[in-house]
Amino acid sequence: MTALRITDLVFRWPRQARNCLEIPQLELAAGERIFLHGPSGSGKSSLLGLLGGVALPQAGAIELLGTNLTQLGGRARDRFRADHIGFLFQQFNLLPWLSALDNVLLPCTFSSRRRDRAGPSPRTEAERLLGHLDLKPHTWHGPAGELSVGQQQRVAAARALIGRPEILIADEPTSALDAERQQVFIDLLLQESAAVGATLVFVSHDRRLAGHFDRIVAIDEINRVAQDPREGGGGMAQSGQCCALPRSRPGAGA
Ligand SMILES: Nc1ncnc2c1ncn2[C@@H]1O[C@H](COP(=O)(O)OP(=O)(O)OP(=O)(O)O)[C@@H](O)[C@H]1O
Ligand SMILES: [Mg+2]
Repeated sequence: MTALRITDLVFRWPRQARNCLEIPQLELAAGERIFLHGPSGSGKSSLLGLLGGVALPQAGAIELLGTNLTQLGGRARDRFRADHIGFLFQQFNLLPWLSALDNVLLPCTFSSRRRDRAGPSPRTEAERLLGHLDLKPHTWHGPAGELSVGQQQRVAAARALIGRPEILIADEPTSALDAERQQVFIDLLLQESAAVGATLVFVSHDRRLAGHFDRIVAIDEINRVAQDPREGGGGMAQSGQCCALPRSRPGAGA
């Protein structure tokens, strides 16, 4: 079964002269775990934002679990994301005034599906995930904004994993972790995604991590803009409109 299919995607940020992404085709099978890499500024985070329905392309289709995100309205896209996608952002996007535990529980407040899939007690599940990620109980109850950067990154990971989303999207999720915690983190991510057959899209600069994954994809291989800079002027499409969307509900997509 196909979990993700991109067809003839064109994306340009507002006020940018060039297209950021032109991806004729990308397909991921359900349960597949891919390692996506590429130079800084090559469009990795932009692509993940499109996969998460945080932004919309000017052209093309993005199908996740058989639903074409580009045909959903904003609210339906928010709902789809909350129900089916665990999103681990490059900048974490924790709510700093909430505790670590409450941050992890956020997806269960936005989605009854995620809450049901978190088991009989979402709180116990949140504690299990935090414990697995080596966050000691004394860090669970204070404001998340007072945790170290590496601790915040692990809280964000637990938030993405809770409620067993079918699709996990992780943007540089290990950048703030030491080598030992990177290993624990990757093991947990792979273990949790395998347990539910989740499809995992993992972005990192660190090529040493690539060996853990089923498939390695360089963004330059799939993005025509990167292959030929002249194409960035609108080789596949020239739409003056851009559909990047402001986020309405922080934390809803994790
Ligand atoms: N919010 C935004 N508004 C306008 N342009 C943006 C925005 N975010 C990114 N871009 C542009 O899109 C291009 C790709 O950026 P993106 O963040 O996707 O790269 P990246 O591959 O994730 O880089 P990094 O490895 O540094 O995280 C860059 O040229 C950047 O200037
Ligand atoms: Mg990025």
